[in-house]
Amino acid sequence: MSSRDQFASKIGFILAAAGSAVGLGAIWKFPYMAGNHGGSVFIILFIAFLFFISLPVLIAEFMIGRRGQADAVTSFKQQAPGKPWYLVGYLGTIMASLILSFYSVVGGWILSYLIRAFTFRLKSGDSESFEQLFHTIIQNPWEAVFAQGMFLLITIGIVQAGIKSGIERASKWMMPTLFIFFLILVVRSLTLPGAMEGIRFMFVPDWNQLNWETVLLALGQAFFTLSVGVSVMITYASYLGENEQIGSASIHVALMNIFISILAGLVIFPAVFALGFQPDAGPGLAFVILPAVFEQMPLGSLFVILFFILLLFATLTSSISMLEILVSVVIGKRRTNRVRIAWIGGLLIFIVGIPSTLSFGIWSHIQIADKSIFDTVDFLTNGIGMPIGAFFISLFAGYYYKTAISKQELNTHPLFYYVWLVLIRFVTPVAIVIIFIQGIRNVL
Ligand code: PFF
Repeated sequence: MSSRDQFASKIGFILAAAGSAVGLGAIWKFPYMAGNHGGSVFIILFIAFLFFISLPVLIAEFMIGRRGQADAVTSFKQQAPGKPWYLVGYLGTIMASLILSFYSVVGGWILSYLIRAFTFRLKSGDSESFEQLFHTIIQNPWEAVFAQGMFLLITIGIVQAGIKSGIERASKWMMPTLFIFFLILVVRSLTLPGAMEGIRFMFVPDWNQLNWETVLLALGQAFFTLSVGVSVMITYASYLGENEQIGSASIHVALMNIFISILAGLVIFPAVFALGFQPDAGPGLAFVILPAVFEQMPLGSLFVILFFILLLFATLTSSISMLEILVSVVIGKRRTNRVRIAWIGGLLIFIVGIPSTLSFGIWSHIQIADKSIFDTVDFLTNGIGMPIGAFFISLFAGYYYKTAISKQELNTHPLFYYVWLVLIRFVTPVAIVIIFIQGIRNVL
């Protein structure tokens, strides 16, 4: 496998992995979930779950991938010959492709906003007109499907170029740009009169808001946001050389993710409160409230465009990781050409995603157990597939690996290693089972 592409630098790998992690989850989903579920309480749970449940799985995925030096399926096959562990790789590949099928719907909305912005058709002043615009975009079947296709085309374009010249290069400039521009947006939002109310909402806990639903959603968010459980991080780590430190890389990825999630909150909530809006606007928070908020400020239109460009970058660095797992698994099996697989895979994902797109408009009447098609695919992947995948990955790294192996792979301070071992053996799998059962009960 010496001809396999590799990340050229450690920072390239960290940025690509952080790029996969930081995406719609941190910037779009995190603020509206926090806004709908008690603000600070959700945020505290989310951070605790991210460090104690999701991060250990991320470390496990990095170990499995780096040790395997092959795609998600082959990595398991080589390390557990003749055993069914490789099914975890297949499960992850299917789940990641399904996630991309609905992720690209939202990616398409972002493109629609940007196209309108660049053709001077975005300015509309208040939240009501933005709400109307948002609905026009998501309900129009032609526009939404076209935009989704365009988003996937860009994703395919990057993935077909390979690891070094596609994924690493894109992440290396997109991620730092994201950080810098986000800081500018935070300053803009925090200097508004009345911004303190938003800070209070984010950081002063109101424990009355604590309930099972918030716990479940915070855990789901902790998995989704680190891209764990679907072997995407196994895939990325398989392009990593032997000398890299997995522990520090994974902590960097987790910290960057929390940092961007909090920054996204700090852009949105102070502005929302300062301008007299409500924090519980749901999925429209970033698409409806935020542009309306920005429009009321000097240079507002510019900030709206800036925000959506950033959101597009973050979404693309995540979507490429989802396509990459599929491409690498097929290359591993058939040894065919990367470009062709990227195109065929992307096209299939596009077709599978069309019903999710239409479920906001002409197919909104189709409901599966009270959920739209989009929400059903989201639930199947984030609510079921990811926890199952994370569960088996934690068993593989915690029990199947001999401790000598995991110790050598992690290659770090013994205290850090033992903390990880306890978490991956006892805390992660047990927490997943408890929360999974509660989650299923909640739905049924
Ligand atoms: N972590 C991404 C986000 O928060 O937007 C979503 C994601 C990417 C989930 C890749 C799963 C995945 F395999």
